[in-house]
Amino acid sequence: MINIAVLGYGTVGSGVVEVIKTNQDIVNKKAGEDINIKYVLDLREFPGDPVMDILVHDYDVILNDPEVEIVAEVMGGVNPAYQFVKAALEKGKSVCTSNKELVAKHGPELIEIAKKNNRNFFFEASVGGGIPIIRPLIQCITADDVTHITGILNGTTNYILTKMCKEGLDFDTVLKEAQDLGYAERNPSADVDGFDACRKIAILTSLAYGKHVDFEDIYTEGITKITDTDFKYANSIGCSVKLFGEATKVDGNIYASVAPVMISGDNPLFSVNGVFNGILVNGNVLGDVMFYGSGAGKLPTASAVVSDIVDAVKNLNTNIAIEWTDEKLELADYKTSEKKFFVRVNGTVADKLSEVESAFGKVEVITLDELKDEFAFITEVMSENKYEEAAAKVDGIVTRIRMGN
Ligand code: HSE
Repeated sequence: MINIAVLGYGTVGSGVVEVIKTNQDIVNKKAGEDINIKYVLDLREFPGDPVMDILVHDYDVILNDPEVEIVAEVMGGVNPAYQFVKAALEKGKSVCTSNKELVAKHGPELIEIAKKNNRNFFFEASVGGGIPIIRPLIQCITADDVTHITGILNGTTNYILTKMCKEGLDFDTVLKEAQDLGYAERNPSADVDGFDACRKIAILTSLAYGKHVDFEDIYTEGITKITDTDFKYANSIGCSVKLFGEATKVDGNIYASVAPVMISGDNPLFSVNGVFNGILVNGNVLGDVMFYGSGAGKLPTASAVVSDIVDAVKNLNTNIAIEWTDEKLELADYKTSEKKFFVRVNGTVADKLSEVESAFGKVEVITLDELKDEFAFITEVMSENKYEEAAAKVDGIVTRIRMGN
């Protein structure tokens, strides 16, 4: 029998207990051992919940119990998760976590401590919830130079953008609805400002290239400026707008970003709607592979944590190597990255197009019958720098959205 402890009895923690209980026989069989939850750590009490029999409030009880071989950290946040996880690994316990803040900030150090102690630090649930993406990146897509990772990595923002696209609603109305449904937090900043997706693409980029990407180096723009009018234009040309976390390798330079991107129906991520996540990976010899599924939520996320626990049981005294060193990966200057831009401008085509084309060169014009005093255009491929230079020469630009493939 293998004893485990679960740190945190919130949404994911209670999910881990539920998944193990629901699928106990299957999980035991796949692990090759009986898995026993010996402790759950939480500061709160849960009267009437059977978890009370194994609930502890003092982490030292878990840390100092040599019978606990695996710790599932599902508390979230960097502190005290970092101290707890580090101490567990140093005590010779394997750790499985869903905590993207912790992994994005301290991943290489915790991987190294696990290696030194011949234990494992697994974090499948930290990106894409229940979607297998970490293990495919580190164990399957190992023959390739990864040229592109494009991810819809945040369920809340994808829900909001999908509703705006399909129902013509404005951002504030849909955000309120998402909050009422419990998808978005009361303080939705981590989701709508792109910070959550930023941690996730930092983890994927670090794993793809084996060096540490500082999430603070990643250009990050959220979805708060996307309007219902933007979607009217997008729909008129068969496009939608998605929040993409992206890493791209161009001529040996690696770019990473989080930003809303306008994509056409040809893009495989176009149909990733609602709270679902999708991640498209391109390798130089593999071509495209796509991962799709539930990127958040209690049971999908817990499913990924429990699959890590199974793997940790199967490799109890064997460190599974994860190539992610603490050497910093220097990202290329985002302003030199190139793409087309969708731009809205005040004025009529007759009055304004020559001014626009003298700044941007040839553009593709989009007009909407209901909007008489503005139009939109799509530029040729240009760098962010060149876009800014050109935009400064045109009066009345309302907004711009980057175009995807
Ligand atoms: N707030 C996140 C989301 C939860 O909406 O995707 C999963 O990390």
